[in-house]
Amino acid sequence: MRGGIVCVVLLVGSGIVWVAEALQCEAVPGVLQKIDAGAGRVCGITEERRVVVFRDDSWVDLQASGDHVSVGPAGLWNVGVDGLVSKWFRKGWVQVNPAGNLIQIDAGGDKFVVGCNASHSIFCLNHRPALSYDGSGSVSWVAVPGELKYYSCGPVGCWGVNKLDEIHVKLGVSGNSCHGPEKWYRIPGSLSMVEVSTDGQVHGVNKHGLVFKRIGVSACNPFGSGWEHLRVAGLSKHVSYDHEVLWIICRNGEVQRCRFSEALSPE
Ligand SMILES: *[C@@H]1O[C@H](CO)[C@@H](O)[C@H](O)[C@H]1NC(C)=O
Repeated sequence: MRGGIVCVVLLVGSGIVWVAEALQCEAVPGVLQKIDAGAGRVCGITEERRVVVFRDDSWVDLQASGDHVSVGPAGLWNVGVDGLVSKWFRKGWVQVNPAGNLIQIDAGGDKFVVGCNASHSIFCLNHRPALSYDGSGSVSWVAVPGELKYYSCGPVGCWGVNKLDEIHVKLGVSGNSCHGPEKWYRIPGSLSMVEVSTDGQVHGVNKHGLVFKRIGVSACNPFGSGWEHLRVAGLSKHVSYDHEVLWIICRNGEVQRCRFSEALSPE
């Protein structure tokens, strides 16, 4: 992390401020399996396993089939239906030599990429190869110790879930050292997917289709303080958050674009 860590304690008068958040959602056209929002862009995988990007209120086909897609500070990355990785470079896709076949990828870290394969081994790519790879030569994936089926990174930490839906966090991961320290921290709760946004917010979905937000995550408190169940109409299967919008895919594939409206209520 560049610079120091700034902690802000918000005191209004002498009271504690409770932030009551209401989620306001609107339906977006289209039916998706997966979604990822990052660095101001939103992309997804359709029912037909096409990679699409959200542009002018509709989903534009990016001329690739995909199983998992991610967009963020490290660019736009796709895991094809064959498990092979490609990256959007200038005006099209370039194949990236595999780290084995992946099932999930995340470009949300500080210009590095992480992913998991079908046997839940974890891999990452440091920022230099992640950003500069142009399709020639090969990149050196780094094997990360541990087992996860979903892994996502943000500015203060990387969050993942394993096959038992247990939640694990790794701190001290950076673009120069995407491997990070050996230590994993276990977070109470159970999720089947978890996404860290570019601004460090953490959201996930559990196996019952309920959406959760980690409250209180900051550089000073990277683990946050608890899970808040977000009341969403119906059940969900995938979420992603960026630029104050929470994108939710419902069980039936419908896409919701949600915003938090904050109501400050001093006690
Ligand atoms: C996942 O990666 C591990 C470590 O490289 C490898 O042993 C395993 O065969 C891979 N699994 C798949 C399904 O590719």
